[in-house]
Amino acid sequence: MSTSLNASALARLLGSWRTGASPAYRELADVVRLLILDGRIPLDVALPSERALSQTLGLSRTTVTAAYSQLREQGFLGGGQGSRGRTNIPHRPGASAASPGAPGLAAPDGILDLAYASLPATGEVVHRAFADALTEVPALLPGFGYDTMGVPALREAIAERYTEAGAPTTPEQVLVTSGTQHALNIVLRTLAGGQRRVLVDHPTYPNALDAIRASGSRTIPVALPPAGSRLPWDVDAMSTALRQQRPAVAYLVPDFHNPTGRNMPEFQRRRLIREAAGSGTVLVIDETLRALDLDGGGQPPFAALSTDSSGVVSIGSLSKSHWAGLRTGWIRASESLIGRFAATRTTMDLGGPVVEQLAAARLVRSFEEPLEARLASLREHRQVLMELLDRYLPQWEFERPDGGLTVWCRLPTPSSTALTVMAPDFGIRLAAGPRFGAGGAFERYLRVPFTLPPEQLDSAVRALRAAQDRLDASPQLQNSLRQEARRRHEAPAAVA
Ligand SMILES: Cc1ncc(COP(=O)(O)O)c(C=O)c1O
Repeated sequence: MSTSLNASALARLLGSWRTGASPAYRELADVVRLLILDGRIPLDVALPSERALSQTLGLSRTTVTAAYSQLREQGFLGGGQGSRGRTNIPHRPGASAASPGAPGLAAPDGILDLAYASLPATGEVVHRAFADALTEVPALLPGFGYDTMGVPALREAIAERYTEAGAPTTPEQVLVTSGTQHALNIVLRTLAGGQRRVLVDHPTYPNALDAIRASGSRTIPVALPPAGSRLPWDVDAMSTALRQQRPAVAYLVPDFHNPTGRNMPEFQRRRLIREAAGSGTVLVIDETLRALDLDGGGQPPFAALSTDSSGVVSIGSLSKSHWAGLRTGWIRASESLIGRFAATRTTMDLGGPVVEQLAAARLVRSFEEPLEARLASLREHRQVLMELLDRYLPQWEFERPDGGLTVWCRLPTPSSTALTVMAPDFGIRLAAGPRFGAGGAFERYLRVPFTLPPEQLDSAVRALRAAQDRLDASPQLQNSLRQEARRRHEAPAAVA
C-alpha cells in the first residue's frame, strides 16, 4: 500500500490555493492542514520532498521549507527536519481520550471527535451475537464460503423485517452488502453513471455525494426548506426537478435525515413516489438512520407505499442501530433489480464475511432488543446538546432533530471551515458544513453530533465557544480563513 503522496497528487489536491492574503508559506501550510483535517490527505502519509513540491508548485524551496516547518510545529507533520514528514493530527494533552485502540476513531486520543456521527456497539448484544455466530461456523466450513447474495439466514431475517414493517419482501429481493455505502455504490454503478443525473436532498450525507461524483453522475441538489418551515421537504421543488431534469436516480434520506435529523411525513413520501414514477426516476432510499426514531414519529418505509416494485430501492445497514464494525447492510429491491445489482457487485467483491453475516442475522431477528437503551441515551444526549448550544452559543440557530444522531446548526457568519481549521487547537475535530453540500454551499452551517457522553459534549461545546470567540476577536483571521474556505469547497471532501 502506498504511504506517500507525490508532488503532482498534492498539487491536484491543493487546487488554486494561493490567494495572496498572507505569505505563501502560511497559505500553503493552512491548506495542507485543512486537507489533513478533512481526511483528503490520509494520516501517516509522507508528503512530497521539499524539492519536488517546490518544483511542481513553482515556489522557492524556502517557501516550502517554511510551510513544512509550520506544519511540524503545529503537530501536523511528524519526523525530523530534512526527512519526509508524515501526516499527523496533533495530540492535545489533558483532553479526555476515547477508548484507546478501538478501531474507527478518526481523531487521535485527546481530541473529541465531532466529525463522526457514530456510536460504539450496543455492548453485550453485539458481542453475544458474534459468540453465537461462531457456533454455527463449523457447519459452514465444508462450503466454499463465497455467497454474492448474502448468507440465506440474513436475507430471510431482513426480508421478514421489511414484511413486518408493511413492505412484503422475499429473501430473493434482498442482497446483503458491506454496509449502506457499499450498497449505494452498487446501485449507482448499476443505475446511474455516464453523466446521468442523480437528485439529492441538499444538504445530505457527504459520502453519498462523493459516491455520486465518483460514479460519473451529475448531482441535482434540491434544497431542504429552512428550519421552522411548515414542511420538512420541499416536494414541489423536487417534483419540478424530477419533471424537468428526469434524473435516473433520486438519493434521499427521509428517515432522520443526515445532517438535519428530519423525518419525512407519509403524504410527502406518497407524492414523491407518484412524481418519481412520472419521470422514470428510481428512488434510492437510504434507511441507515431509520431505527433512530427519538420521538416515535417513524413512518412506513417507502417500499411499503409503492406499488411499482422497480420504483423504490431501499438501502440500509446495522451501522447506526447496532455497530458500524459489523460492516453489514443490504439492498431491498425487485428481484430483477437485485439480479442486476448482484452482477455489479461481483465486479467489486464476491460476498461478505460469513461470521459477520451470521451475527447480523441474529441481530436483525431480535432487532429491537438493544434499541430501547440506545434511544433513551440518545434522547438524553440530544437534550444535553441543545441546552449546551443554547447556553454557550446563543447566536447559533438549530432545529430539534426528530431522530438520528446530529443537530444541524446555522452559524451567525459563514465561518464553518474557519472553525473546522481551528478546531484541533481547541481539542475538537469538526466536519465543515460544505461537506454536506455541492459547490461550497453551507459555509454557514455546522453539524454537531450528540453521540458523545454528556461530560464530553460539555467540553466539546465549550471548545466550540472558545473557537468562536477566537474567530470573533480576529476579523483578519476570519477573512483569510473565509477566502480559504471559498477555494477549498470548490471540491468537497470526505467525512463519515
Ligand atoms: C445517511 C447515511 N448513509 C450511509 C451511511 C454509511 O453507512 P454504512 O456504515 O452502513 O456504510 C451513514 C453513516 O453515517 C449515513 O449517515
